[in-house]
Amino acid sequence: MGEAALKIDLLRELVPAPELALALPLIEEISRLKRERRAVVLAHNYQIPAIYHGIADYTGDSLGLSYAAAATEAETIVFCGVHFMAETAKIVNPAKTVLLPDMKAGCSLSESITAADVRALKARHPGMPVVCYVNTEADIKAESDICCTSANAVKVVESLAGDSVIFVPDGYLARNVATQTRKRVVWWEGRCMVHEQFTVEQIASHRAQFPGLRVVAHPECSPEVVAAADYAGSTAQMIDYLRDRPARKVMLITECSMASNIREQFPETDFQMPCTLCPHMKRITLEKVARSLREGVYPIEVPEPVQTRARRAIEAMLAIGR
Ligand code: 13P
Ligand code: SF4
Repeated sequence: MGEAALKIDLLRELVPAPELALALPLIEEISRLKRERRAVVLAHNYQIPAIYHGIADYTGDSLGLSYAAAATEAETIVFCGVHFMAETAKIVNPAKTVLLPDMKAGCSLSESITAADVRALKARHPGMPVVCYVNTEADIKAESDICCTSANAVKVVESLAGDSVIFVPDGYLARNVATQTRKRVVWWEGRCMVHEQFTVEQIASHRAQFPGLRVVAHPECSPEVVAAADYAGSTAQMIDYLRDRPARKVMLITECSMASNIREQFPETDFQMPCTLCPHMKRITLEKVARSLREGVYPIEVPEPVQTRARRAIEAMLAIGR
């Protein structure tokens, strides 16, 4: 996670001129509104470069942004990410106003499971602890013992008593975790619509084309893709890995904006495609962020008792850390 600052020269490199001409007045307006409303903008690593480098106060992976949300002294948080992220920010900081610029910014993983599904799993496996991926709505977190992100999933699973866990809703992440623990993992078959698209064949053909290619994948990819990669980790862990192990040619097996956003940190690195766009992350635009600050839309509310029960699962995870 990092504190971001406006970088006009960088935006000129990353954003086409006509688009930047429209973006700059909005960036200016958003900066003014942030000061007036005592607001901060938290942006996930998959946000467009104009948001990431133009208006974000903090950027990071899901875990880093949860800590940033818990720590901020600002009165308002504008979340440039998807619904479950903004909702997590609200749950750890219930006294603050948390705004999501587009309520339709969802997630194929969080949509893959209901609270009734989790209750049915618990009934089928009595006494087994439930770990839920942060990519879930609050009612799923409320049914779970502890939450995790891709940055700490193995650590969270290992922290629990007993020799088995229920892990929802990402079936690929669960299987990737299962390769790193002796515990038996019972999973749900949810998928990230972005990461499920990558294949071992794509990696093989790129390795053949670019000798020495370093392949870095997200653990929401299939276990076969993760096994074919050189490293798998959360979006922030990918950045740390590349900083520790610099490479000339890198294939990032993740959402498209990631490579654009981090390119300036790795001037010696040539980032190879392919990548896949997340339609949910891309619902957030500068226009919608400006409107969000102007009109105070759309505030996240989490009803009780779900809020308190979900907070328990999130705080248990935050106590474990990375
Ligand atoms: P992280 O940034 O936590 O790795 O999450 C990736 C993701 O898909 C979020 O939606
Ligand atoms: Fe959900 Fe995948 Fe989009 Fe992340 S990238 S918000 S996991 S659909």
